Amino acid sequence: MVIGSKLPINVKLIFHSLSFIKKELFLFLFLLIVAIVVTHYFVYSLTVSLLIFLILLLLFVFQLIRKRIDEISEIKKMMIAIRKGEVKNISDINLTSNLEPVESEIREMYSQIKNDIDYLKKLERMRKEFLGNVSHELRTPIFAIQGYIETLLNGAISDTKVNKHFLEKANNHTVHLSNLVNDLIDISMIETGEMRMSFRYFYISDYIHEVISDLKPFADEKKIELRFVPTEKNIQVFGDRARIKQVLTNLTVNAIKYTEVGSVTIELIEENKNIKIVVRDTGIGIPPEDLPRIFERFFRVDKERSKDAGGTGLGLAIVKHIVEAHTSKVEVVSKVGVGTEFSFRLKK
Ligand SMILES: Nc1ncnc2c1ncn2[C@@H]1O[C@H](COP(=O)(O)OP(=O)(O)OP(=O)(O)O)[C@@H](O)[C@H]1O
Ligand SMILES: [Mg+2]
Repeated sequence: MVIGSKLPINVKLIFHSLSFIKKELFLFLFLLIVAIVVTHYFVYSLTVSLLIFLILLLLFVFQLIRKRIDEISEIKKMMIAIRKGEVKNISDINLTSNLEPVESEIREMYSQIKNDIDYLKKLERMRKEFLGNVSHELRTPIFAIQGYIETLLNGAISDTKVNKHFLEKANNHTVHLSNLVNDLIDISMIETGEMRMSFRYFYISDYIHEVISDLKPFADEKKIELRFVPTEKNIQVFGDRARIKQVLTNLTVNAIKYTEVGSVTIELIEENKNIKIVVRDTGIGIPPEDLPRIFERFFRVDKERSKDAGGTGLGLAIVKHIVEAHTSKVEVVSKVGVGTEFSFRLKK
């Protein structure tokens, strides 16, 4: 059974190998025939015949070895050129037609290594950018806090006109700093895979009531109406309660933060297998050219405005990771001056 299944492959392999040396083989056979004819008609000695056969065989083997050495040195030269970075493009990898299978293997390997290197370079660039952004974001509030404290210590503490104001400013920056550090911890947990999700069924409507009551004072302060449109039935969804709360809070806080007048609505829409959760606002909107970038870390459409509101620019990056961990995705539609709608789906 085993022999039967291996035999055709071996025969195929032999034919394949023979195809590489067909020129030499034909030459050898031709010379052998000539030698047989010559010895048969002109030389009547077996020793001479054998000698001629031996010489031909030696020539054949020598030719084969020479050819192999040439091929190996051709492959070696190509490898050295790749190592030295002289090969810029996959089409620069060319070997003689005999070595076609080796050539395609080298091309394959080259493009795989090139892709891996490009990916590592991209990661390295992102890491540097991230580190630069983190340092910059940390430096700003720390310098500000330092500045206010120094001013207060230098005498402003007894100036009743400014002392409270400076302390409030310093406090705002500590809030910002603490938000930033918490977001960074989340991002790092996501990256190291430590953000474990604990999936279970829970009633989504009850849950949204909790989020709304947490954020109502924030909306009231800005005189923005915070509305909830539930589904007809109280439906259970499958997900990580705590993390989904983080997502909803982030999206709703954004909606309130970037809305001046009007309302913020959280709506649940029942679909076949999912519940679509929509957070809609009547706020400033996001310009179309910025929409593809809002999930990037530290990206803010209006840096100053976001910072004033205590924003770090990490919120949506975290939202995206959490929603994707629920095998879903965040969708966004927005119109400048009209409003924004973020949505994602959870399994029923
Ligand atoms: N509902 C929205 N309306 C208008 N712009 C928005 C809205 N949500 C997000 N944005 C824009 O996207 C940017 C990124 O949002 P993200 O939540 O990641 O950061 P942030 O709100 O600035 O800070 P934080 O990390 O504290 O949430 C915001 O700075 C803002 O410019
Ligand atoms: Mg935010």
